[in-house]
Amino acid sequence: MKLHTIQLTHIAIMTAIIIVLGFIPPIPIGIIPVPIVLQNLGVMLAAIVLGTKQGTFSVGLFLLMVLLGMPFLTGQTGGISSFCSPSGGYLIAWLFVPLLTGITLSHFKNHQTFFVTFLITWIFGVAFVDAFGAFFLAWFTHISIKSALVAGLAFIPGDTLKAILATWIGLRVHKHLTLVNQN
Ligand code: BTN
Repeated sequence: MKLHTIQLTHIAIMTAIIIVLGFIPPIPIGIIPVPIVLQNLGVMLAAIVLGTKQGTFSVGLFLLMVLLGMPFLTGQTGGISSFCSPSGGYLIAWLFVPLLTGITLSHFKNHQTFFVTFLITWIFGVAFVDAFGAFFLAWFTHISIKSALVAGLAFIPGDTLKAILATWIGLRVHKHLTLVNQN
């Protein structure tokens, strides 16, 4: 598995986009200690634009830097403590979004409409992340899984909008990159 300079550049740019989205302040939702953030838009974008391998590298690089203590999460936080927090499950789930989305999207190569891309992005970038995050939250904060899942429903409208936006931007950029790579 060899990555070319152009692919490394794409990975670095996408990682930078996820970092920049972290500068947009979090919105606390009150019922659980996990805020609304914009960085998961970047994670969904990485999945659509870069696909399985490069997308996972890009999100993985971001999470590695956070793990090593760089304050790249929303609210300028980072470090191992971020993973050992109520938000930890969401962060872990982010790593699998490009993998699961990319693999599934690759089965629809010739039928990648807006709706198909949105649906697959929603399933893994929203439903999977919010469910995984809620299970971790329940375990971490000793609340019931049902309470965590119900509280996590507060994220669904915003996350769905992010999935729509990621699909809209992602398909355009992906098409552009495919054309550039062909020339
Ligand atoms: C962090 O910055 O510590 C991670 C926050 C994780 C927030 C999750 S991501 C999925 C869901 N949608 C949101 O807007 N917030 C939560």
